[in-house]
Amino acid sequence: MVCVEVEHLDKSFGGVAAISDLTFKVQEGIIFSVIGPNGAGKTTLFNLLTGLYRPSGGAIRIKGKDIRGLKPHEIASLGVTRTFQNLQVFMNMTVLENVMVGCHMRSRSGLIAGALRLPSVLREERRVREMAMEALEFCDMADLAGRDADSLAYGLLKKLEIARALAAAPGLLLMDEPAAGLNDTETLMMGRLIERICKRGTTVLLVEHNMGLVMGISHGVLVLNYGRLLAQGSPEEVQRNPEVIAAYLGDEG
Ligand SMILES: Nc1ncnc2c1ncn2[C@@H]1O[C@H](COP(=O)(O)OP(=O)(O)O)[C@@H](O)[C@H]1O
Ligand SMILES: [Mg+2]
Repeated sequence: MVCVEVEHLDKSFGGVAAISDLTFKVQEGIIFSVIGPNGAGKTTLFNLLTGLYRPSGGAIRIKGKDIRGLKPHEIASLGVTRTFQNLQVFMNMTVLENVMVGCHMRSRSGLIAGALRLPSVLREERRVREMAMEALEFCDMADLAGRDADSLAYGLLKKLEIARALAAAPGLLLMDEPAAGLNDTETLMMGRLIERICKRGTTVLLVEHNMGLVMGISHGVLVLNYGRLLAQGSPEEVQRNPEVIAAYLGDEG
């Protein structure tokens, strides 16, 4: 089964092409990485896939559904969730509350029912709390549920963002540089967490600069250069590709 299909995708900002004629497919149930130098268009691609940006041309299908013209929340309701390159954590809330925000996309009761505190809403809140706790447990953070987010070290804040994304029970998770700023041990643990996320049935689209992490856990890798596809294949194929070595991996030493 194909999870993501991108066809001849274009996105330009006032004449500057951030994504040019990009075509690729991501099978369901895998970890698929998008790599490339700064400015290659990786975050733009995520913004297109989540509906924050509208394509200038081309098509995107997620689980067979054409997402052109859909709003971000409509794409989210297809089971698409993301984490951000820059942390998006509510520092004035607890860890658990932060994760509960992620569940609210899944919750059924509306705002008015919520304001009236109907029994159905109270049940719903209990359910949301349970889902959030499950996501925290999955990320080995259950013991931190009551802590204020602003008391967490950076590495834990990165995991908190992932827990919140998982609370929405995504079928497709887009992760934008989850290992940025992490030390070697934390990066290893992040890799294991991403593998566990994939094993539980979530397709992962990963943007990441740490090549050890990318090549260690990805089933497929796509290399972007100036918004264009430079190469695509298994980690081994991509690492052997002379154009990739020249354009990108070579710079990394
Ligand atoms: N909202 C925007 N407005 C104008 N230019 C943008 C916008 N978003 C991205 N770009 C441009 O698109 C290109 C790709 O950026 P980006 O997707 O952030 O790259 P990456 O994530 O690979 O580092 C860059 O030249 C960037 O300046
Ligand atoms: Mg980026």
